[in-house]
Amino acid sequence: MGKLAITGGKVVRTKPFAAWPVYGRQEERALLKVLASRNWGGYPFPNTIADRFAQKFAKFHGAKYGLAVSNGTVAIQVALKAAGIEPGDEVIVPAYTWEGTVGPVLLLNAVPVFVDVDPDTYCLDARLIEAALTEKTRAVLPVHLAMRFADMDAIGRIARKHKLLVIEDCAHAHGGRWRNKGAGASGDFGCFSFQSSKLMTSGEGGAVITSNLAHYERAQTYVNCGRASTTDRFGHRLIGFNHRITELQAAILEAQLDRLPKQAEKRQGNMEYLEKRLRKIPGLDFLKRDKRNTRGAAYQYVFKSRAEAFGGTPRASFLGALELEGIPCDGMFYEPVYKSALFPLDPSEFPALSWGRKEPLNPRTKYHCPVSERAAYEESVWLPHHLFLGSCKDVGDIASAVEKVCANIEELRGLKHPAIEKEAMSRVERPRIEKRQY
Ligand SMILES: Cc1ncc(COP(=O)(O)O)c(C=O)c1O
Repeated sequence: MGKLAITGGKVVRTKPFAAWPVYGRQEERALLKVLASRNWGGYPFPNTIADRFAQKFAKFHGAKYGLAVSNGTVAIQVALKAAGIEPGDEVIVPAYTWEGTVGPVLLLNAVPVFVDVDPDTYCLDARLIEAALTEKTRAVLPVHLAMRFADMDAIGRIARKHKLLVIEDCAHAHGGRWRNKGAGASGDFGCFSFQSSKLMTSGEGGAVITSNLAHYERAQTYVNCGRASTTDRFGHRLIGFNHRITELQAAILEAQLDRLPKQAEKRQGNMEYLEKRLRKIPGLDFLKRDKRNTRGAAYQYVFKSRAEAFGGTPRASFLGALELEGIPCDGMFYEPVYKSALFPLDPSEFPALSWGRKEPLNPRTKYHCPVSERAAYEESVWLPHHLFLGSCKDVGDIASAVEKVCANIEELRGLKHPAIEKEAMSRVERPRIEKRQY
């Protein structure tokens, strides 16, 4: 029997952390009101609460117009379509992100071009963008990942110089700010997700924000089966789909938006306290802060564990041990998309991958992004944001558990355990054994 819970020792944390999602009377009342109104859907578009929420949400981030849609993946697809991305156009995407950032590019028969992330932020490395541009590049799609922002100053400069559109994936960044501008408002579009685990949620849901009326009108038409937009100044006509959000979801989101600032403040304070404690532990590394990121948004708290500092102990062992100390955590939260089993790209389904080439483009063999690969497979540790919505004692327990695992790392050498096996699994394999989260 060892000291660590995974080897039979006492568990650090037995109490559950704060529950997620958070709801209360406000959500209950709002939902009942929609129920009684019998006006549940997204049609007529934009429906009352959906539109009210979308405009509030846009304004909250400093954009002129907002559109609530069915989920975050669709939000990205809508932005690309509204931006006029056409078959064969190239879109710069970070290699390290959720597959849902990239799928919409392919669905429009455009070509994703993977660029590595910055080791200091895990967000798209702006220093590598220009080398990846071709005459076909039309847009850059930075993702403000986990708890940091991509360098929007540099991305803006490159976009202006090369006449590229900027579509921000803000699925992790609700309420965050870059130079006091809200997430999604520095670029041409901001795309958000309200999926269950996100900082605001209606179970599923998404939003697109923009300050350009032509873009906004085109997005509305695309989302509402091709119908004319509410203002129809530009007379866009295109084949659209039904990507509308329901009034039931929008009602929850209004309440969730009200909760966001207080929750963000609490999370931020608790994460700072955790980092102060973790910084005392040798072998851990941290993402850098950027003063231009004037308001934090932290979807997950992310730090790095350096296997070489722990005698080569793999990250999966570190995480399995931490999980058994009662701390929910993850490592392979994302994989470099071009390598992920959730990205089984068949070039015959996406003709643009073959245009102008002898062989179809195969991202799996074409790309090698070392920072993304190291983050995904070796060093990153992700702690979900709801762990930080509770007390200082909760955060103290997280810190104590990490300290304990690091101090007793030799107990993990050569250890086999189902919790370690789970941590080494990809997100494709895991749902078979995982219990419901969120
Ligand atoms: C970075 C990123 N982009 C896009 C999405 C897609 O959002 P959704 O799950 O709402 O479709 C997600 C959410 O899972 C995400 O984390």
